[in-house]
Amino acid sequence: EKGGYEHFMLKEIYEQPRSIKDCMRGRIYPQEGKVQLGGIKEFADKLKNIDRIIIVACGTSWHAGLVGEYLIEEYARIPVEVEYASEFRYRNPIITEKDVVIAISQSGETADTMAAIEMAKEKGATIFGICNVAGASIPRLTHAGVYTHAGPEIGVASTKAFTAQVTVLTLMAFYMAQQRGTLTTSKLIELLTELDHIPEKIQIALESDDIIKKVAEKIKDSKNCLFLGRGSGFPVALEGALKLKEISYIHAEGYPAAEMKHGPIALIDEEMPVVFIATQNSSYEKVISNIQEVKARKGIVIAIVTQGDIEVKKMADYCIEIPDADEAFLPLLATIPLQLLSYHIAVMRGCNVDQPRNLAKSVTVE
Ligand code: F6R
Repeated sequence: EKGGYEHFMLKEIYEQPRSIKDCMRGRIYPQEGKVQLGGIKEFADKLKNIDRIIIVACGTSWHAGLVGEYLIEEYARIPVEVEYASEFRYRNPIITEKDVVIAISQSGETADTMAAIEMAKEKGATIFGICNVAGASIPRLTHAGVYTHAGPEIGVASTKAFTAQVTVLTLMAFYMAQQRGTLTTSKLIELLTELDHIPEKIQIALESDDIIKKVAEKIKDSKNCLFLGRGSGFPVALEGALKLKEISYIHAEGYPAAEMKHGPIALIDEEMPVVFIATQNSSYEKVISNIQEVKARKGIVIAIVTQGDIEVKKMADYCIEIPDADEAFLPLLATIPLQLLSYHIAVMRGCNVDQPRNLAKSVTVE
């Protein structure tokens, strides 16, 4: 059932070119620059006039929500707030009938996310779900939704479900942009054509396994690890840190790279590995100066870079390449090496990768 892989997690990491393809099937028409999302079609008109979107989720799904915020604000120009479901439900948040709430959940059974949905529904908001498990409780509670179609995820640490959630949010951002006219058809054609090829680029990203194992060998006995990124690389850093801590039990933190100087820089010495999302995009130069700050303090720099990078290679101790892509698709690609890195470290430390201690696949208690 593990299809020849040693663990479900590894199998699920390698399934991603396929799961993302499945997620996009029948939903994108690159030549026409068109996105179709049957699940939320009846709300297409409503989306033209909404003032705000609130995303609620927990854990890895919350990280996908942060990527969604970046994409929806960038392309559809709708203000987005991303909330931990567990905090949102116990506040007295301001919600009106004009709001759209997007609940993200792999299992569709997370208690806090369900409670957040129920509260928002009572206040009259329209609720969309992004779920993986068909027919679960959350899809039944929502007004409409889009399934991720990633297939069953057995490993407790979420991998292919995360990239499928990000894919759905990308489709939603483009769909909303299409409804609201914030992207031209020619720009949509360009973006969707590139999105269509992302599964092949993920396949290429999966092939860096050798260098990733070398990095894993180097940092597997570390007590701490920092993950830094900017823009949509920030939620990728958060997700990289969560994967590492949950399966290898190494203390890890994700931070916006620019926030380093406001505290975490105090932690850096020759024993601190720092993983940078340092791909060639709008924040490339800024990330380079953050790398210099870490190197000046003798930290071990591991950088996720764009294929063919020259600048970061001069400074970093290890570089892991991913294919070049529009900034919109960076989270989908940069996440892959971080999943593999935490997997290999956990295996080297003898951890139970598929069933880490104290964790459950669906958290049905509050
Ligand atoms: C991390 C992980 C958890 C879940 C969280 C939400 O790898 O699996 O953080 O993401 O418990 O679960 P869902 O998405 O099922 O609501």
